[in-house]
Amino acid sequence: MKIVRSINNLKKIIKSFRNNNHVISLVPTMGNIHEGHLALVKKAKLMSTVCIVSIFINPTQFDQLYDFNNYPRSIKLDCKKLMFYNVDIVFIPSVLAMYPSGINNYTYMYVPNLSEILEGSKRLNHYKGVTTIVSKLFNLIQPNLAFFGEKDFQQLIIIKRMVHDMYYNIKIISVPIIREANGLAYSSRNILLSKDEYKIAHKFYLTLRDMADKLKNNIHCIVNLIKITTNQLEKIGFTVDSLYVLDSKYLTYINNSSTNIIILSAVWLGKIRLIDNIKVKIFK
Ligand code: PAF
Repeated sequence: MKIVRSINNLKKIIKSFRNNNHVISLVPTMGNIHEGHLALVKKAKLMSTVCIVSIFINPTQFDQLYDFNNYPRSIKLDCKKLMFYNVDIVFIPSVLAMYPSGINNYTYMYVPNLSEILEGSKRLNHYKGVTTIVSKLFNLIQPNLAFFGEKDFQQLIIIKRMVHDMYYNIKIISVPIIREANGLAYSSRNILLSKDEYKIAHKFYLTLRDMADKLKNNIHCIVNLIKITTNQLEKIGFTVDSLYVLDSKYLTYINNSSTNIIILSAVWLGKIRLIDNIKVKIFK
């Protein structure tokens, strides 16, 4: 496994892969590698001949300096884990390499509408930062395949839209959420939870699961169900930031023809913001 930090080196290596007709996969991450990332890596390894993982804590997608400064950093351990999975290249660029004109006045990629709703309305400029960094990685690496988890479902939809609108010749592969045995979705932020917070964190998923079961039986009681679930979550100790029931195709409100539904939620547990989602299939 090669660790590459400079863009020039990366370009040289990519060129030789291209000359040898490799199928290149990219797994973009912000590090603190966990089972969720490793599921992406495993799938990428199966579907390509060269697997590149990027580790870059992207400053422009954080709306709060506190969150950026406290984002867990564990490069050495990350590389060990990725080596175990035979990743070919780990790309770890500097902020200056990725934002050569600085982060205050950077050239950006923006997907309108989808970037402003839901999570985007809570975290100003977040998705603008995400699409900008992902498009930079796409331009540099030009992978055949790129892998994203379904935990940030809105991110996935936005990236698919960007790829479609900008004619990127890249296939986006999504991988379902990977959960701990108790149901808690793996997240880099989980290690920031205190012991007591960690003990209840999985109840976020269990409560949404319960909501999903009820929704399957009665799709017409959404407003009520959102109220009940919000109360349940708050009783456990979460502060509900958002809870939506939407059509999963374009993240619009559901209508009579919606069959693929998604529950999307974000909650605060102390200072940590957790997101999760559950897909619900409605049979008509
Ligand atoms: O999902 C993430 O970890 C990040 O948003 C991504 C896609 C690596 C861009 O920084």
